[in-house]
Amino acid sequence: MSMDQVVRDKNDPIEEEEDEVTPLTFLSSSSLVASPPAFAVSGKIDLNHVDELQNHGINAADITKLKQAGVCTIKCVQMTTKKNLCRIKGFSEAKVEKLKEAAAKLHNASFITGLEYSVQRKKVLTISTGSKQLDGLIGGGIQTMAITEAFGEFRTGKTQIAHTLCVIAQLPLEMGGGNGKAAFIDTEGTFRHERIKSIAERFGIDAEASLENILVARAYNSEHQMDLITEVAARFAEERGIFRLLVIDSIIALFRTDFSGRGELSERQQKLNQMLSRLVKIAEEFNVAIYLTNQVQSDPGGGLTFVADPKKPVGGHILAHASTTRLYLRKGRGEERIAKVYDSPDVPEAEAPYAISAGGIVDVS
Ligand SMILES: Nc1ncnc2c1ncn2[C@@H]1O[C@H](COP(=O)(O)OP(=O)(O)O)[C@@H](O)[C@H]1O
Ligand SMILES: [Mg+2]
Repeated sequence: MSMDQVVRDKNDPIEEEEDEVTPLTFLSSSSLVASPPAFAVSGKIDLNHVDELQNHGINAADITKLKQAGVCTIKCVQMTTKKNLCRIKGFSEAKVEKLKEAAAKLHNASFITGLEYSVQRKKVLTISTGSKQLDGLIGGGIQTMAITEAFGEFRTGKTQIAHTLCVIAQLPLEMGGGNGKAAFIDTEGTFRHERIKSIAERFGIDAEASLENILVARAYNSEHQMDLITEVAARFAEERGIFRLLVIDSIIALFRTDFSGRGELSERQQKLNQMLSRLVKIAEEFNVAIYLTNQVQSDPGGGLTFVADPKKPVGGHILAHASTTRLYLRKGRGEERIAKVYDSPDVPEAEAPYAISAGGIVDVS
């Protein structure tokens, strides 16, 4: 029996923890391969950056420690529990209290009216997948401030969608883009600059320039993956408003290698939960779209639904809770692929076809 069959959702012993579990991993040495920003933020004051706390009685050394722990914005200070802030070396309860007070002065995290909320939601952008049919299925493309997860078997196009999004994220809004940069955390070694180049050609943008706008890092184990997420959040904070997309291809692969068997399942789910809770915050904090790929496992219980060889995503309900939109990808005839909305609370479980071309994801002609 494979690991996939053993690790069944209903056997999954880990429920969402009541208290959030923001991990305070520390920055690794710079492993993100990056070029200097093409359009860096010009020295303007960012009231949401933790540096601003210095004007509110927090000393520079403590601000540095916050940044090293991946807490780079005032909003992130507010989204992190006191318990987790106290885990930073040298942070006493009194210090954390003072920090929370200073953050509260700078950013209102209390009630707003429904109208104010609707104004905030206007900031949400959609990034096209390259296929109008697929976009139509998910409300115009993948959304910022949300996590979109694609799962499916090998060669269904999960990685090709990721590459296409990295290019389209850079296009102007009128072209279905996000007018921003992309970051790609590659856990399987499948990022291909050649693919980016040919997708860029399809959209008539300079291949080199489009590669310059993508930060790429290879993650070697699940802890390293977490370090890279911390690091990328720091980059998002430094270059505020510049990034629109974060890809993690795949979210789960390294966890499955690092934790094996039922004995380590609960630890795996806890670590995965920490990572996802961090990602949910990053999506909202920086108004970026997060695209995750995931693997499938057979679902013997699904046989009751009369589907031949039913499949379901790995990761249990922890991943289900974190993802706003889940797409199940499968092969169709020839080069055709089919995406199906999976398990959505508010969208019908519709399907759309798409195809993979030299220029990335396209409509089925
Ligand atoms: N340049 C290309 N032109 C057309 N199809 C391609 C190209 N490169 C890869 N593909 C197709 O993409 C598929 C693999 O997709 P991929 O995203 O790597 O799958 P997954 O990540 O789901 O395993 C293959 O079936 C391959 O035929
Ligand atoms: Mg892949």
